[in-house]
Amino acid sequence: MSFTKEQIIESLKKVLYFPKGTNVVDLDMVDRLEIEGNKVSLALIYPQANDKNAHIVKDAAERTLKSDLGEGAEISIDTLSEQEAGRGPLGKVKNIIAIASGKGGVGKSTVASNLAIALAKTGAKVGLLDADIYGPSMPIMFGLNGERPGAKEENGKTKIIPIEKYGIKMLSIGFFIEANKALMWRGSMASNALGQLFNDAIWGELDYMVLDLPPGTGDIHLTLVQGFPVTGAIIVTTPQNVALADVRKAADMFKNDSIKVPLLGFIENMSYFSPEDAPEKKYHIFGQGGGQLVANELNSELLGSIPIVEAIAETGDSGVPIALDDTTASAAIFKGIAEKVISNVNKRNIELEATRIVQIDPNANCSTD
Ligand SMILES: Nc1ncnc2c1ncn2[C@@H]1O[C@H](COP(=O)(O)OP(=O)(O)OP(=O)(O)O)[C@@H](O)[C@H]1O
Ligand SMILES: [Mg+2]
Repeated sequence: MSFTKEQIIESLKKVLYFPKGTNVVDLDMVDRLEIEGNKVSLALIYPQANDKNAHIVKDAAERTLKSDLGEGAEISIDTLSEQEAGRGPLGKVKNIIAIASGKGGVGKSTVASNLAIALAKTGAKVGLLDADIYGPSMPIMFGLNGERPGAKEENGKTKIIPIEKYGIKMLSIGFFIEANKALMWRGSMASNALGQLFNDAIWGELDYMVLDLPPGTGDIHLTLVQGFPVTGAIIVTTPQNVALADVRKAADMFKNDSIKVPLLGFIENMSYFSPEDAPEKKYHIFGQGGGQLVANELNSELLGSIPIVEAIAETGDSGVPIALDDTTASAAIFKGIAEKVISNVNKRNIELEATRIVQIDPNANCSTD
């Protein structure tokens, strides 16, 4: 038994992607079609990761193909987001890393800016998206306060050009709103604006996009993490924050069934006080071991501990993050964290690829039929 591509495409034209009221072929959602004897494998590409309708449409496609090709056909269908398939505005963005926390003020933005710089120093292409609608801080931390990104027409659409500084492509919600107005935004306005920063910007090729999230675990986070193809999340905590409940809430948010974003690990910030000129001295002002404890409890990893260093705050305020200065002990700590992040992202991608290979193994599919 053998099938032709035309036969399969004709059959798939009967399958509707109902949010758009058109069939999956006309919407150009069918990709990677391969036929080998009676084995047919293909991928359905969805505009966004975690598309709620993905399974329904996939099941419909399977049923339709079986009915048209006969029970002897072995069908295997993979589902991918546009980003995973290398399409769409984020198609060339390989990994999106969200920086989150249960509580505010623990150092998310400090970590996001310095991690972005440390990643870029490894030679990677890095972007930074400040999604903190409550209090965007990247314009200050990158010394770009008052700047406005440029725009460019592309295929009849106006696209935003991220600002480049320190070798990093950066956009912040702070470039588009007046200071202190952000808090008044309703959830839908905020997620629309963020959607534009993701999808209507020319990000180009990036190995890592670091996403600085607003503090907490509200609805806005769900919308954000659900709507965008986040590779993994890092949770920032402080030792005294080990009223574990907040941290656990943040971790649970990413584990949520409709999100399923893997945790890349925890970072303990403000771990101890260390004079920049005497980094061997460690004063554990807020207690010790909290970050490690949370990481163990939640089956994750502590990626690093960052001390309280005056220069970290000063350099953040003056727009020249400390990770830029290789002579500092703090830059070395961020370098170590970046290396662990890269290693965990790679591990996660290998695991993901392995599950995908199992999914498209026709024999694996056969046994469940
Ligand atoms: N390791 C550190 N040593 C010294 N100061 C720090 C350190 N980490 C953060 N800070 C300072 O603490 C303040 C809060 O940090 P930051 O803005 O990064 O936190 P955040 O979690 O992003 O806050 P928010 O929840 O408001 O977004 C800043 O003034 C920052 O400079
Ligand atoms: Mg912040």
